[in-house]
Amino acid sequence: ATNRTFTMVKPDAFGDGNTGAITQMIEAAGFKIVAMKLTRLSAEAAGKFYKVHNERPFYKDLCAYMSSGPIVAMILEKDNAVSDFRKLIGATNPANAEEGTIRKRFAKSIEANAVHGSDSDENAEIEGSFFFSGLERVS
Ligand code: CMP
Repeated sequence: ATNRTFTMVKPDAFGDGNTGAITQMIEAAGFKIVAMKLTRLSAEAAGKFYKVHNERPFYKDLCAYMSSGPIVAMILEKDNAVSDFRKLIGATNPANAEEGTIRKRFAKSIEANAVHGSDSDENAEIEGSFFFSGLERVS
């Protein structure tokens, strides 16, 4: 079924000027952009966005990193959007990411891993709503 996922170009990739190349890979893989925004997370907003990870040892660093520079948030539409997007981005740790994936090409580390991708339809909706109002999504 056609559904949606949520992604962010993270501060490392935005700062390196890789937003265009990443967006091109996303569109070339058949995803349609239905919302897009250049913004910046405060440490507090990053803490809220990643609160499912608040017990993890990397949580504090992750929130500092995600608020260290601008990010580009997008909602993407495609058949099987969540699982196909996770294939396109590759493993969380770029050392394990397959050839041809976004993280293989652009990620620097397990933390500064270039892009985010939602892990379920439910989280895609929650994460998309964190950044975008209904009016900011095209249909
Ligand atoms: P993402 O999948 O977007 O959401 C959780 C993020 O936490 C993940 O990307 C990485 O940026 C970060 N992360 C996950 N695992 C680790 C780890 N072991 N060490 C540091 N950062 C991590």
